[in-house]
Amino acid sequence: MNTTEQKQNEQIGKLMKEFVNETVEFYNNIEQQPVVRHANSQTLEKLKQQEIPADGNSVENVYRQMLDDVYSNTLLAQHPRSFSCVPSTCTMLSWMGDVMTNAYNPHASCQINAPAADIIEKKLINWMCSLAGYPKESGGLFVSGGSIANLTALTAARDNKLTYEQRKAVIYISDQTHASVSKGLHIIGFCKNQISIIPTDNSFRMDTTALEEAIKKDIALGRKPFAVVASAGTTNTGSVDPLREISSICKKHNMWLHVDGAFGASVLLSKKYKKYLDGIELSDSLSWDAHKWLLQTYGCSVVLVRNRSVLVDSFAAHPEYLKDAETSQEGIEFWDLGPELTRPARSLKLWITLQVMGSKKIGQSIEHGCEMAKLAEDRISALPNWEIVSSAKLGIVNFRFLPKSKTTENDVDKINQEISKEITASGYAQVFTTDLQGKKVLRMCTINPNTTQEDICHTIEMLNNIAKKFE
Ligand SMILES: Cc1ncc(COP(=O)(O)O)c(C=O)c1O
Repeated sequence: MNTTEQKQNEQIGKLMKEFVNETVEFYNNIEQQPVVRHANSQTLEKLKQQEIPADGNSVENVYRQMLDDVYSNTLLAQHPRSFSCVPSTCTMLSWMGDVMTNAYNPHASCQINAPAADIIEKKLINWMCSLAGYPKESGGLFVSGGSIANLTALTAARDNKLTYEQRKAVIYISDQTHASVSKGLHIIGFCKNQISIIPTDNSFRMDTTALEEAIKKDIALGRKPFAVVASAGTTNTGSVDPLREISSICKKHNMWLHVDGAFGASVLLSKKYKKYLDGIELSDSLSWDAHKWLLQTYGCSVVLVRNRSVLVDSFAAHPEYLKDAETSQEGIEFWDLGPELTRPARSLKLWITLQVMGSKKIGQSIEHGCEMAKLAEDRISALPNWEIVSSAKLGIVNFRFLPKSKTTENDVDKINQEISKEITASGYAQVFTTDLQGKKVLRMCTINPNTTQEDICHTIEMLNNIAKKFE
C-alpha cells in the first residue's frame, strides 16, 4: 500500500474514533431527541445539485458532510416513542456487529470463504428452527428482510407443490396479509387472479370456514389450490391466524403452509407469550425478521423451512468457476439455499447480541413490548370518546377517537388523521393511522425495549389533549 493511502487510512481511523464516541452519546440520550428529525429542505436541495467529482474531496470534508447532511436527516425508527410502522428495536450491540462485520467484509456465501461465520449462521438457523418446533431435517437462510424471506419460501412452495399446472394454481392469503406476499407471488410468476383473499373475523384472524369453502369451490372449478399463507403477527393488529386449524386444512388438501412471522415469530423467545403462536411448528416454512423484534439493525431476517432440501431443489446452482469452493457437507453452500450468491454475514450481529444478552433477557424485552401495548389499551379504555378497534396483540393496539358530536364516518376518519399528524409534528412521538374494517384508526406498535410506562402514558395524554379540540 502506498504512503498516501496509508495516511488516509490513519485519518479515517481518527475520524472513526470520534464517530464511535458521538454515536455512543447519541444512543445514550436518544429519548431526548425528537422522533422525527424533519429533513432540512435546503440540505436536500444541495444534495440534489451535488455532482460526482472528477477529482475527489478530502476524507474529513466528506465525513463531516455525511454526518450533517445525511445521517442527521433521518427519522429515528429506533426511538423509544416511535410507534408507527414496525419500529426498529436495534441496540448498540447489533450496531457493533455491523461495524465489525462490515470492517472485515466476509463473503458469507460458502463455508470455505468464511468458515467461522458459516458455523455461526448454521447454529443460529438450527436454534431458530428448534424454537419454531421444526424437525431435524429443517434448515434455512439469513436474508435481507421479511419480503425476501416470503419470496424465498413461496418459491420453494411453488416448486414443491406444482409442476406444469402453475396457471391453474391458487394460493390463499387473508385480507390482513402483508403486501410483500402478493408482491413476491407476482415476482415468481403468479397473476392477481391466482391469489384468493380470505376475509378475517372480528379479531382480524383468517376465517377458516371461508378458507375451506374457497378451496372446495376452486377444486370444483378445476383449479389447483396449492398453498396458504398464514400470519403470525399481522402488521396492522398483531393478530395470529389459527395456525393449527389452517394446518389441518392444508394437510387435507395436500397444500403448503407458509407462516409469515416476520413480525411475530420473535415471541417464540417469550416463555409467557409463545402460546399465542401455537401451531407454528406445523408449518412448512416460516419468515422471521430479526430486524423487527430481535434487536437487530436492518438487513437481518431468516427464512426457515421444515425440510432444507426444498430450498436446495429450488435454488441450487453449481457454476463451473465455483466448483473448488464447494466444500460443505453434501456439497450444499448458502448460495444453494436462496436467491443470493455474494452475501454479507448477516447472522454475526445477532450472534453477538445473543452472546452478550442471552436469550432470556431478549425474551423479557419482547414481553415488555406486549405489556406496553396492553398499558396503552388500558389508558385509552379509561378515557371518554375513545374506541378500541383492535385490543393489544403482540405489541400492537388500534384505537380511534370517536366524539359523540360527529355523525359521519368520514368526519371521524379525518379527525383521527389530524390527531396522527399533530402528534407526529410535535416530535414527541410518532403515531400513524391504518385502515381496519373501513375505519381510519390510530395504531401503536410498542415493541421498543426502551419504551417506558411514562412514554406510553404521556403519549396517550397528548393524543387525548389533541383530540379534545375536535369534540
Ligand atoms: C408481517 C410482515 N411481513 C413481511 C414484512 C416485510 O418485511 P421487510 O420490510 O423486512 O421486507 C413486514 C414488514 O413490516 C411485516 O410486518
